[in-house]
Amino acid sequence: MHDLLARLGIERPVLQAGMGGGLAPSALAVAVSDAGGLGTIGLLPPEALRAEIAAARLQTSKPVAVNLIVPFARRAHWEVAAEADVVITHWETSPKRRTAKTWIHTVGSADEALVAVAAGADAVIAQGVDAGGHTRGTVSARETLDQVLRVVGEEVPVIVAGGIASAADVQTALEAGAAAAVAGTAFLATEESGAHPGYKQRLVDSDETVLTELFGMGWPHAPHRVIPNAATRRWLTDDPLGPTGVRRLHAALATAGRLIPMAVQLRMASRASSGALDLSPAAPLDGMPSATLDTHPLYAGETVARISRIRPAAVVLDDLTP
Ligand SMILES: Cc1cc2nc3c(=O)[nH]c(=O)nc-3n(C[C@H](O)[C@H](O)[C@H](O)COP(=O)(O)O)c2cc1C
Repeated sequence: MHDLLARLGIERPVLQAGMGGGLAPSALAVAVSDAGGLGTIGLLPPEALRAEIAAARLQTSKPVAVNLIVPFARRAHWEVAAEADVVITHWETSPKRRTAKTWIHTVGSADEALVAVAAGADAVIAQGVDAGGHTRGTVSARETLDQVLRVVGEEVPVIVAGGIASAADVQTALEAGAAAAVAGTAFLATEESGAHPGYKQRLVDSDETVLTELFGMGWPHAPHRVIPNAATRRWLTDDPLGPTGVRRLHAALATAGRLIPMAVQLRMASRASSGALDLSPAAPLDGMPSATLDTHPLYAGETVARISRIRPAAVVLDDLTP
């Protein structure tokens, strides 16, 4: 039996996904952690991340995680992440342990899981292609979970991400051998998430998603699942991944785009005007112009079809707890 969650003091087998750029602020993480799940603060510029961890510490004595998307994490991010209880990483093919804290790495296959465990990960998240946001897996979360469990299930806890929107989903995952389940879309549709109110409304209204590489400026070759909007309708007429020219441009500008500090990217997005199109990965936040709802990515998983209202995060956590 893996007792990682118990050792951390996490009472419910549910993790709230760390959604970057301000979508998962301390208010969301605190609401989830305080109610017995594991709340996660998403990637922000280092000083903003430090402030969010400090804010969370003032509001809860329960453990709190931070999420780092490795290609965007600078040395300062790792220093700040040491102030959280758990560091959850995403998007690294050859991960390394860079923290003394509990480290959970997100993987999309059995091979990636083996590498993460060899690098010393305390647990892995098996993320399926049905998940919202950037997807590591190429098959469903359930299949990814089974594949990962087969190779590392005896060594470390395996947590599943993708397709989680009810207590029954979590129960099924636990019965399949998962130690816990991650929900992103379900927690994005909460009062505490940092998403633009119009983005939250689209979560309620939309039933479909598309897997694309369209919003890949600074982050090419990274498929992401989004709700269709004007940008996807305009650009994804032939190939759901995006026009070859746009994807080539993303690849060509990858290094330059990645060097633009996240704070600048967020400022650029907040100034976006109607019709502007930058195809960056920044999602619409509360306070950004409504035009960004149709020029920027509306990340969501296939579970969006089951979102019917915006609720407090603690209520969502109750609904996810078997
Ligand atoms: C809006 C949104 C943003 C996301 N951002 C991140 C991120 O910054 N880092 C990360 O590790 N995963 C991110 N993810 C993926 C989640 O960690 C998780 O795998 C996914 O949400 C699970 O699928 P679900 O959305 O159907 O619950 C994001 C997901 C969503 C929906």
